[in-house]
Amino acid sequence: MTVTLLPPAPPAPAAADPLAVLGVPGQINLDHAASAPCARAAADAVAELLPWYASVHRGAGALSRRCTLAYERARQAVGDAFGARADDHVIFTRNTTDALNLLARALPTGTTVVTFAGEHHANLLPWPRGSVRLPVPESPAGAVRALDAALTELRRGAGSAPPVLVAVTGASNVTGERWPVAELARTARRHAARIVVDAAQLAPHAPVDVAALDVDYLAVSGHKLYAPFGAGVLLGRADWLDAAPPYLAGGGATSHVGSATHEVRWATGPARHEGGTPNLLGAVALAAVCDALAGADRAALHAHEQLLLARLRDGLAALPDAVELRTFGPDAPRVGIVSFVLAGRDSAEVAAELAGEHGIGLRDGLFCAHPLARRLLAEAAARSGRDDLPPTALRVSVGLGSTLAHVDRLLAALAALR
Ligand SMILES: Cc1ncc(COP(=O)(O)O)c(C=O)c1O
Repeated sequence: MTVTLLPPAPPAPAAADPLAVLGVPGQINLDHAASAPCARAAADAVAELLPWYASVHRGAGALSRRCTLAYERARQAVGDAFGARADDHVIFTRNTTDALNLLARALPTGTTVVTFAGEHHANLLPWPRGSVRLPVPESPAGAVRALDAALTELRRGAGSAPPVLVAVTGASNVTGERWPVAELARTARRHAARIVVDAAQLAPHAPVDVAALDVDYLAVSGHKLYAPFGAGVLLGRADWLDAAPPYLAGGGATSHVGSATHEVRWATGPARHEGGTPNLLGAVALAAVCDALAGADRAALHAHEQLLLARLRDGLAALPDAVELRTFGPDAPRVGIVSFVLAGRDSAEVAAELAGEHGIGLRDGLFCAHPLARRLLAEAAARSGRDDLPPTALRVSVGLGSTLAHVDRLLAALAALR
């Protein structure tokens, strides 16, 4: 195998825009939905803290105290950014998958989880047996109706109202389509159910406020939010979390360990589920991005992203063999993600050619949402009347740092495919 070395990373830009993203000249990253590039705010926060590198919650030294303070400030900043209520916990995890697995382990016995088949695997697989998976709806209103019907059915004759958790995405990682989170939350509430929103794809593109949306739990990934890998968040109601066994048993998660085997008092609060030394730099970097986004003109960022999205979708529609994947109607609100296929072309080969010959990075496959992607590929075949669609798709995703020139380069490269 030939290994091609990328050119060295450019020197840090002089401009102090905290939401400028780092990158490598000549490489066009159109794969933000997988992992977004690192924002300057995150890189600066890490660089500033590195000289102080020391233990967190475990030392009396000045370095350690500063690191502990930085970690807890990061918790506060992330909680504020997502509208955490006074009695919510903000628990640092590794990523969204970890956050949803943590919540799955904290469910009271007998909880029924209701999801849709359109979810990412991270929001399908952690849930216990007996969970209800609703079919992929055809519209946002259809999703609300289906949830209402399912919850009505679940509650019928259930005398003591056992716990129900609705688990939905804020925006699809396959199509970018936004889900009607506020309406789904209202529906859940009407049936005395709780709701968790997988905001892995929504949070990088739009403000998300758990209090305003009236959702109980939120999960996000730092690496999709312009921070480095390794830090995510589960935010939400304290009661289930404080009553659950610790997610990671070990140091930091206990308030007392006696001499007898199993004589242990577990901590309450976020510490209960954050056993072991935490990812200080990941938390601080994520908080720095949250702060930078809070100070940014989100409406302008949204308008720019929608411009790129429109150019991309128009350009794809003009290509004779391109067929877009979608769940809802063509005008449903979306974040900056588009998946498509080129009839008669293998998606993996197209992605490899774009990378190798044009320096363009995008994703091919079924995007860790196999049930949804398969269904949308079948729908795309029916809609286009083509019988030569490939079995996997291509996904373009944009965000901070993406430009019209990037989109145009992609469209030109697609038009020129060998
Ligand atoms: C909607 C959605 N949920 C969850 C995840 C899982 O995120 P992570 O891999 O950071 O755990 C992803 C990742 O692509 C995603 O797109």
